[in-house]
Amino acid sequence: MRHPGAAVHRHEHHLVSLSDIAVLFFKAAFNFIRQFIYLDTLMSKPKILVARAVFPEIIERLSQHFEVESNQADVLWSKAELIAHLQGKQGVFTTGGERIDAELLAACPDLKICANMAVGYNNFDIDAMTAAGVLGTNAPDVLTETTADFGFALMMATARRMTESEHYLRAGKWTKWSFDMFAGSDIHGSTLGILGMGRIGQGIAKRGAHGFGMKVIYHNRSRLDATLEADCKARYVSKEELLKTADHVVLVLPYSAASHHTIGASELALMKPTATLVNIARGGIVDDAALAQALKNKVIAAAGLDVFEGEPKVHPDLLDVPNVVLTPHIASSTMPTRLAMASLAAANLVAFLGGQPALTPLNPAALERK
Ligand code: DGY
Repeated sequence: MRHPGAAVHRHEHHLVSLSDIAVLFFKAAFNFIRQFIYLDTLMSKPKILVARAVFPEIIERLSQHFEVESNQADVLWSKAELIAHLQGKQGVFTTGGERIDAELLAACPDLKICANMAVGYNNFDIDAMTAAGVLGTNAPDVLTETTADFGFALMMATARRMTESEHYLRAGKWTKWSFDMFAGSDIHGSTLGILGMGRIGQGIAKRGAHGFGMKVIYHNRSRLDATLEADCKARYVSKEELLKTADHVVLVLPYSAASHHTIGASELALMKPTATLVNIARGGIVDDAALAQALKNKVIAAAGLDVFEGEPKVHPDLLDVPNVVLTPHIASSTMPTRLAMASLAAANLVAFLGGQPALTPLNPAALERK
């Protein structure tokens, strides 16, 4: 019996010419190269950009998963420079100051995720990112208690005139005790008004109510449920009532077009002349020029500011008034908390670019677009 393949083989053998062999050879070579390139693409790490300096251990961790370009020199890039550095990058680690908008997204077609090392994300144009199919993530929760600590500390420093009196001492002006020297206002037993009652606002409320016997009132876009109100011993009031009755007003609301200049000259005029105002939210929520004027004219007693309109620039009039405590946007700045924030941003990049869901996505609708 003949082997069935033999005839075919002989038959094919007759038909195959030298040029056919050459074509087959080139096809095989082409397929090999194509497959090689494909496998190489699959095996190569995604490229990401770390837009500002961060902890070396975070760069190390990211480098296990990605080809990382990092800005460890901490150069403040212009938008054009940021776009140039983002070419070919699928992910970017941002720290809250880098503006991600439609123009940038159009110029960076490979970008898939922007991971902010901050709970606030007003540097993201979320609508533009969703339309472009680019996911944004932030870093909530890990900074809540640290930031609440700072908000409370800033309120105390403001009410008790701590930096103003320290400047006086350092200037060698302290020559004798006097009965009303830097007399401030009490925290314990006073009324704490919180505008913006998210996680950080609730943390400040608990510190005030449980630690210092403060009466807590709050105003928020939506009222907290009864259990949370009871936990914070907080009473919901209108913005106007809050401004009129609080001894200490603390701002913890997110920045948006709607919250721009939530506190301006007319709101300051509603406050008690003995009251203090603290802003740990975002610059732009307070009209800084109007606040400087109000502090100068003693419309309110004092202010504590960790954030500023157009920071790191500070309105020059604020630098001229003594009754304001000024800090350079450090409310979340303890080493463990900043490390936790950076770790969360890194974890979002690793998960998402590794094909897993991001941990703290801001605009999941973006995923339906790409
Ligand atoms: C935040 O997380 O939004 C802080 O303002 C950054 O320190």
